[in-house]
Amino acid sequence: MDKLIITGGAPINGEIRISGAKNAALPILAATLLAEGPMKVSNVPHLQDITTTMELLGEMGVHLVVDEKLNIESDPRSIKSFYAPYNLVKTMRASILVLGPLVAKYGRAEVSLPGGCAIGSRPVNLHVDGLKQMGAEIDIENGYIKAKAKRLKGAKLIMDVVSVTGTENLMMAAALAKGTTLIENAAREPEVVDLAKCLIKMGAKIHGAGTSTIAIEGVDQLKGIEYEVLPDRIETGTYLVAGAISGGRVKLKDTRPDMLDAVIVKLQEAGAIIETGDDWVSLDMQGNRPRAVDIHTAPYPAFPTDMQAQFCALNAIAEGSSVIRETVFENRFMHINELQRLGANVRMEGNNAFIRGVSKLKAAPVMATDLRASASLVLAGMVAHGDTEVQRIYHIDRGYERIEEKLQQLGAIIRRVAD
Ligand code: EPZ
Repeated sequence: MDKLIITGGAPINGEIRISGAKNAALPILAATLLAEGPMKVSNVPHLQDITTTMELLGEMGVHLVVDEKLNIESDPRSIKSFYAPYNLVKTMRASILVLGPLVAKYGRAEVSLPGGCAIGSRPVNLHVDGLKQMGAEIDIENGYIKAKAKRLKGAKLIMDVVSVTGTENLMMAAALAKGTTLIENAAREPEVVDLAKCLIKMGAKIHGAGTSTIAIEGVDQLKGIEYEVLPDRIETGTYLVAGAISGGRVKLKDTRPDMLDAVIVKLQEAGAIIETGDDWVSLDMQGNRPRAVDIHTAPYPAFPTDMQAQFCALNAIAEGSSVIRETVFENRFMHINELQRLGANVRMEGNNAFIRGVSKLKAAPVMATDLRASASLVLAGMVAHGDTEVQRIYHIDRGYERIEEKLQQLGAIIRRVAD
């Protein structure tokens, strides 16, 4: 397994391009199953999760053509199976996103339950219950969701919990249902909005995406179109923290700073000078040590849980004490033990991390446990004295395109070695 070696203390000053959003590309690739013809999806990031999704669609018989820029043409007309096997779903829970489209378009699906994951049990009851309310017959046996429906019908769905992929799955299913579906307590994330924009371009009738109430009036068919995926706000936030943690300066292009208000406010509180344009954002710490900031994660537009680990690393070396409270997932602090190996002063109490900033961290071998935890360890390694070795970085490759190249462009001393 590869690992990353980061030599701490390098001055950070540079600019990089942000890739397309993983968490928008995944549902949009699933949505190609709904089309009557081929779809072309562009600005897709080059990540393991995208490869897994293409493998899943390919095994169903969907015809995929990928060009050198990773623009993906997906033609579902050759589909021959409606099955998402455990061996693929267990490596990427977002595979559940094919469930809604398969039932809505083909009337049947057999999708493995994703099973638990490092950051929490992450059930999919909202996905299943919503489809049942829309008339699908669903049995769960041998670890698989077996669903069938002649034609889904519109329903009023009230989500007990705000669920990003739950909202996305049900919105895709409702797009071809008979009648109108209301999704109450819907997720408001920009990736949900991007999926809705793609579906509307395909001919879907959707109102309210980006608010807590989405209305979808089902249509009979959706056409294949071309769509460009929006930039990755979490990748953007992660590289902003790379600048903040190192007291440096970064400029990030081809991104959308308007999706990061909650994160930008916290970086400004930490002492960063932030400038933004329509498609770029810059951060300058002017060589200063960041000030500690309190964080409370919650569904969009509040502070994103996917940026929590990165701010644990920032607060670990910040001036002052802070509390980071995780409210979305029940076990998303596995990076704390690893940060403590680097010398971070953190006390855990339930879902609260009490962090007292230290003036310096010391390099040590650490282990990545999940995608965003890995990013926080890389960020800490950028300022720890010595060479920090981050192991099991396959987690990182799921969500960050060419992370060592991009960090090198910013000035970091980082290299990937085969273990
Ligand atoms: C999406 O996961 C993202 N993944 C996650 O990003 C992100 O952390 C998460 O949303 C929260 O923003 C993708 O979009 C592919 P949820 P998702 O359903 O949809 C509970 C990353 O780092 N829940 O919004 O799986 C669940 O247990 C990944 O890129 C139910 O109880 O998350 C959690 O506590 C990690 N029943 C809460 O809702 C359900 O049926 C929010 O989960 C579904 C969810």
